[in-house]
Amino acid sequence: MAQKQRILVTRRWPDAVERVLAERFEASFNLLDVAMDEAALAEALRSFDAVLPTVSDRLPASLFDGSGIRTKILGNFGVGYNHIDIAAAKAHGVAVTNTPGVLTDCTADIAMSLLLSVARRAGEGEREVRAGAWSGWRPTHMIGTKVTGKTLGIIGFGRIGKAMAKRCHFGFDMDVVFYNRSKIGLSEAARYGARQVDTVEEVLATADFVSLHCPGGGENRHLINAQRLAVMKPEAYLINTARGDVIDEKALIDALETCVIRGAGLDVFEAEPHVPERLRVLENVVLLPHLGSATEETRTAMGMKVVENLTAFFDGKVPPDRVA
Ligand code: DGY
Repeated sequence: MAQKQRILVTRRWPDAVERVLAERFEASFNLLDVAMDEAALAEALRSFDAVLPTVSDRLPASLFDGSGIRTKILGNFGVGYNHIDIAAAKAHGVAVTNTPGVLTDCTADIAMSLLLSVARRAGEGEREVRAGAWSGWRPTHMIGTKVTGKTLGIIGFGRIGKAMAKRCHFGFDMDVVFYNRSKIGLSEAARYGARQVDTVEEVLATADFVSLHCPGGGENRHLINAQRLAVMKPEAYLINTARGDVIDEKALIDALETCVIRGAGLDVFEAEPHVPERLRVLENVVLLPHLGSATEETRTAMGMKVVENLTAFFDGKVPPDRVA
């Protein structure tokens, strides 16, 4: 019988997926589920046929430097892969796969939760009740912003952007405008009740809620900076379920503190898991610990996608979700 490939799973995955991995491969699991540092990841690239990283692992070019790379494939658990230096992986002949499609709905659901929570002050309200500080119903208590019928602006009209548009347009009667680097056909946009505009600024100036759905890293780093925040309406909200580095976090905090915009709902941060104290003390933000894909169904489906990608790769086929 052929020797099983040695694989390393960098964090704990759903049991059902770990079981399949253990059957098909000679699998090592990170039983303590503590994030691996760069030295440990560099060593893994030299010891395993496949490494299965996720967003909490950093794989910069320096990890690939030098000789002895054994890894043939990085089976990333997640759709975003800006934590991996793709050029360095390619240069060392390491294939990279991701897990698109299976987390679309759950990530859009979290974006919707953030939008509703920040507009209707659900975080603040919950904190008040838990603190035993609620003094009772009154007409002026914790007044928020109506969501139904407002304008949603989307940056990045891929799968998740479209799913967000669908929720907002068909569920909440919202007008939807979006910016996307490539042109989306009119009939495709119309399926989501959405209209494409030519610039990020146009979205920012028009929308009551701006939701980010573009990849992180590269030219999208600090796409939303102080200048662009100033283009948003003062009563608008910013929602980010994409990647923390798409927003200049310091500029956002300044904007929130000085009422340049009304609020923000954030599931991702620039230096996760660090969330700046200045952000944590603000009442006009809702902060989640990167929960976009965190449902049993989705996390299992993500893991099974990695299994499919690895199996295809080691069978000599093109993995369905190869990105490099
Ligand atoms: C993704 O898949 O990119 C999510 O952010 C979880 O990592």
